[in-house]
Amino acid sequence: MRKKNPSKASGACTALKNNHGAKRQNNRETIMFNRTLITSALPYANGPVHIGHLAGVYVPADIYARYLRLKGEEVLFIGGSDEHGVPITIKAKAEGVTPQDIVDRYHNIIKDSFAELGISFDVYGRTTSETHRKTASDFFRRLYEKGEFIEKTSEQLYDPIAKQFLADRYVVGTCPHCGNDHAYGDQCENCGTSLNATDLINPHSAITGNVPVLKETSHWYLPLDKWEPALRHWILDEHKEWKTNVYGQCKSWLDMGLQPRAVSRDLDWGIPVPVEGAEGKVLYVWFDAPIGYISNTIDCVGDDWEKWWKEKDTRMIHFIGKDNIVFHCIVFPAMLMADGSYNLPDNVPANEFLNLEDDKISTSRNWAVWLHEYLRELPNRQDELRYVLTANAPETKDNNFTWRDYQTRVNSELVAILGNFVNRAIVLTHKYFDGTLPAAGELHPVDIALIDDFKRLKSEMTDALDNFHFREASRIAMDMARAGNKYLQETEPWKVAKTDMARTATILNLAIQACANLAIAFEPILPFMSAKLLKMLGGKDITWDMLGCFDLVPAGAHIGKPELLFEKIEDNVVEEQVNKLLATKEANRLAAWTPEAVKEDVAYDDFAKVDIRVGKVLECSNVPKSKKLLEFKIDDGMGGRTILSGIAAYYKPEDLIGKEVCFIANFPPRKMMGRESFGMILSAVNADGSLTVIGPQGEVRPGATVG
Ligand code: 2FM
Ligand code: ZN
Repeated sequence: MRKKNPSKASGACTALKNNHGAKRQNNRETIMFNRTLITSALPYANGPVHIGHLAGVYVPADIYARYLRLKGEEVLFIGGSDEHGVPITIKAKAEGVTPQDIVDRYHNIIKDSFAELGISFDVYGRTTSETHRKTASDFFRRLYEKGEFIEKTSEQLYDPIAKQFLADRYVVGTCPHCGNDHAYGDQCENCGTSLNATDLINPHSAITGNVPVLKETSHWYLPLDKWEPALRHWILDEHKEWKTNVYGQCKSWLDMGLQPRAVSRDLDWGIPVPVEGAEGKVLYVWFDAPIGYISNTIDCVGDDWEKWWKEKDTRMIHFIGKDNIVFHCIVFPAMLMADGSYNLPDNVPANEFLNLEDDKISTSRNWAVWLHEYLRELPNRQDELRYVLTANAPETKDNNFTWRDYQTRVNSELVAILGNFVNRAIVLTHKYFDGTLPAAGELHPVDIALIDDFKRLKSEMTDALDNFHFREASRIAMDMARAGNKYLQETEPWKVAKTDMARTATILNLAIQACANLAIAFEPILPFMSAKLLKMLGGKDITWDMLGCFDLVPAGAHIGKPELLFEKIEDNVVEEQVNKLLATKEANRLAAWTPEAVKEDVAYDDFAKVDIRVGKVLECSNVPKSKKLLEFKIDDGMGGRTILSGIAAYYKPEDLIGKEVCFIANFPPRKMMGRESFGMILSAVNADGSLTVIGPQGEVRPGATVG
């Protein structure tokens, strides 16, 4: 059945609507928000960023920012480096450079790699900037003057050799909750518990290894207990819509009861505490870092910044990883409440963690896929990484990244579904219409079904994006491409073209409109692909409103030559990456090696009983049927002897002929594999368990004693 002039009814959008001012419902009231401030956790500038950071924070934040911009909403997307804190000073000490050298190096690496991945920050600032020093100092001073801090003297851990208090990561010990003996003074990375340095069992200094002593010092504390009722009400009653992992973690913190928290430290790296008598003290990194969101807003929009932080029609969304929940949902909001003039976050869609090849990502163990290395080793494949990290995002539970999964998703989804559909549509348009888009005629039910599918998927995708379900959104976008392939499969324009060019025109017009839809739907997730596809289709400006419309590319438009959107990932690419990780594992294993404990004392007379000699290898061969044994004929200066040694796995026999070795000459003869051995060749045991034969450094006459 055909409809008369149905295209208007089904697929056309005559006017593009602007969507300024999104109504969003929370539990209190329906608030009309006119703009959204998106923040993404400021990564520590003590190392590059890895795929765990990307999947947890930056890719979802960027998808959300791009989506809102497409909807025409006013958005400010804030990023920046967190350049204070103890890990930075520890790294600087280890390298013999200044903390500023460290943060300069990593700030630039991180900033450049984010830009190359298409993370569309409106500003990427840093917490060593003058704007930040002033903003954070003023914030502290305001709270200080309002009497919002408690000043307390207490005993803290002190390293008398380093002459330094041991805050946060400067102290390592056993976690009182899970027994992990590598817990830090601020957090146990094994069980995730946030700690005070004095909670650690058997603490020792990360600077000198010494056992610290207790020494009195005074600090300023933010009384979180004072804000507990307000925080309880704000989160537990008013933000029931938050993700269950975030809500649950907040509830358990609140149920345990909040304690005052120190907001200063005895350190020489950080923002000096801006009050008299605070020499040698700096702001705690977790006090100044979230203020970095404010400083970076100031650096971006100047005097207009208060609109983004204080006006009631602005909403703020913090994108973070799960280890940052307490700071963004409890500590920073308490700071904002204490000030009294700021908005609180509207949502904090924190993600869980991403593992790599079934193992926890770890900067110190180099167990990561580093973004700057990915960009160098797999050039022009930014969207592939963005897609895989989104399709497999750790939104509700920890997830795992494997290179095999990366290859499968790229090859069987991006290449085989999305790339294939677009390529077919454009190639066929060139084949039958020389690349000039023909006008559509009357629509058949199959055409209307395609348009309806896209409209339904748009509505589902909008819902997913509005609710921070980016994984689901990427699946829906791919379902649009699937619908496109199904449409071509069902309509078979290559067959229809033999008899009915008018019908072929309609099919290809719709297929090209579907391509334009895909450029919109995928723009937040795959911005590079979207730009390339739009260029092929004539470089149209896009908005989210256009999605679901089938008159986006006008008839007569010239469609560019088909260019592949994605290329297959070959096996050797994956193998190289897997081998790189295997090499890291091996290096870690070797680095973790420690010498065996020294054996009990032995009397010289006992040692002297062992007759160690030097011998020269005259012959050396494998023992038949044995994988382990080599048979040596040794010139021992006493007529020669045969010795069997279990080192066949580590040497080719011919490489040992002519070498001088040490052997024990007075072991009783021993039978192995039916052969007799008269002694034992000495070897050193390497970290990986392999053996290296030992012998004299210079030439020594065979038969010489060793002792
Ligand atoms: O966990 C981290 O990597 C912190 N540097 C995040 C800081 S977020 C914000 F508060 F700046
Ligand atoms: Zn623990």
